Amino acid sequence: MAEHTEPRMHDTLLLFGATGDLSQRYLFPSLLHLLRDRLLPVSFRLVAIGRHDYDDAAFRDWLRARLGKEQARERDAVEDLLQRTSYVAVDLRERDSIVAALSQYADRPCVSYLATPPDLFVPVCEGLAAAGLLTGPSRLVLEKPIGHDLDSARAINASLRAHLDEERIFRIDHYLGKAPVQNLLALRFGNTLLEAVWHYRWIESVDILVAETAGVDGREDYYADYGALRDMVQNHMLQLLALIAMEPPGALDADSIRDEKRKVLRALRPMTAADVEANTVRGRYEAGVVEGRAVSGFKHVLRQSQDERTPDIGVETFVALRAYIDNWRWAGVPFNLVTGKRMAARTTEVVVSFKPVSHWLFERPVREQALPNRLVMRLQPEENIELGLMGSLAAPEWGAMELQPMALDLSMSSAPQRRIAYECLLLDALNGNQTLFVRGDEVEAAWQWIDSISDAWRDAGTATQPYPAGSWGPAVAAPFLPVTACSAQHDRSGS
Ligand code: BG6
Repeated sequence: MAEHTEPRMHDTLLLFGATGDLSQRYLFPSLLHLLRDRLLPVSFRLVAIGRHDYDDAAFRDWLRARLGKEQARERDAVEDLLQRTSYVAVDLRERDSIVAALSQYADRPCVSYLATPPDLFVPVCEGLAAAGLLTGPSRLVLEKPIGHDLDSARAINASLRAHLDEERIFRIDHYLGKAPVQNLLALRFGNTLLEAVWHYRWIESVDILVAETAGVDGREDYYADYGALRDMVQNHMLQLLALIAMEPPGALDADSIRDEKRKVLRALRPMTAADVEANTVRGRYEAGVVEGRAVSGFKHVLRQSQDERTPDIGVETFVALRAYIDNWRWAGVPFNLVTGKRMAARTTEVVVSFKPVSHWLFERPVREQALPNRLVMRLQPEENIELGLMGSLAAPEWGAMELQPMALDLSMSSAPQRRIAYECLLLDALNGNQTLFVRGDEVEAAWQWIDSISDAWRDAGTATQPYPAGSWGPAVAAPFLPVTACSAQHDRSGS
């Protein structure tokens, strides 16, 4: 999907939130791999920006220690990255502090990457503008979540647009940087067989499951304000849904794809308080056993600012939704979206279930026992595509034909070495390719639907249902789960 619109890559990256969790876990390792593989410009330099009072040497020591795991294997790349890195301590809420510390970089095209909480986006953006770092070809990269609801997302987008045009704003959803997610587009638009059946006449339902075994551990404060709906559904799951449901774009350029995704998001049927009981489940994990290890339950942090007039309906670590897209292609087809922390297995999968054949000719099995065709696209932890068909390969030479389910397994015999999603997104941001980034109007369309759910939960007083860590969520959510969910667990345990 790479499309190089700029002749040269930008070579200066200003990383805000350099000592944060995201930088440590993903951004520095990604930069390390890109340097190792010589994919960054020879003149690449990194300006790490944080609150801590380090000088260059102290920051490099800190970073060297964080990269310890990589260091043994990639000593040269680590040293290379450290030599290209300088550190600047800045109070990100202080415009003058940003100007004083960073205007020295305004003489070159920079990419400023905000790996910070969203409440810092506006102050940092204003500081960068005052420092001359948003002019000319300079770009701005922002991590999700863009705001907390539609109003706050609009305020952030308006503030960004006051300083730079949309072509230079790169909103990250790291799921779009995953190769198996990009493969959804390849499968959908590269195959006549799928083109012919990809609509309500032939598709019964679509399931999107993102199950994690990890807990909220250490992020309770953030989670208390966001929960699974805002943390996972608003972005990653709706991006998956949009790629599966969108109309074919005229071309694979950034705006053609984003126009189509936005149309799908805008066609999502808003939820009301009357819908939520039948079409949603909220869950919260309790103590249990995950992957053989005893873990404790989720601790809900009560917010000080909680408005006393609105009941505290708690925060969910699991959510199941039945969504409908009100357009010609998808009329009446349920999209079941399920995501949760501390679940039985880590798996991300999309399951497309087809309608039964129009007329059943066979005695065995009887029609009711025939399995409908099913396309299972497993994206994580391994990539694997399976098409469920009915056939009679094992039928006797003569006698009654008996059909059985057969799986056409398209897994690759040797799985390719996958890169961290951020490697691809960092390269695209330095190159100016927006295809895998989310446009402002898409973010707002997603929030509009999410707000309808959180408002409906509040109005209906929808409580969270407990589930034991290591399970598939609250029992009442079982009808929302794809039939493949339990087999994912079996595959892993070898049973
Ligand atoms: C992040 C969420 O965006 O995505 C996390 O904030 C979640 O809560 C993570 O764990 C999941 O990403 P991945 O790549 O591990 O599926």
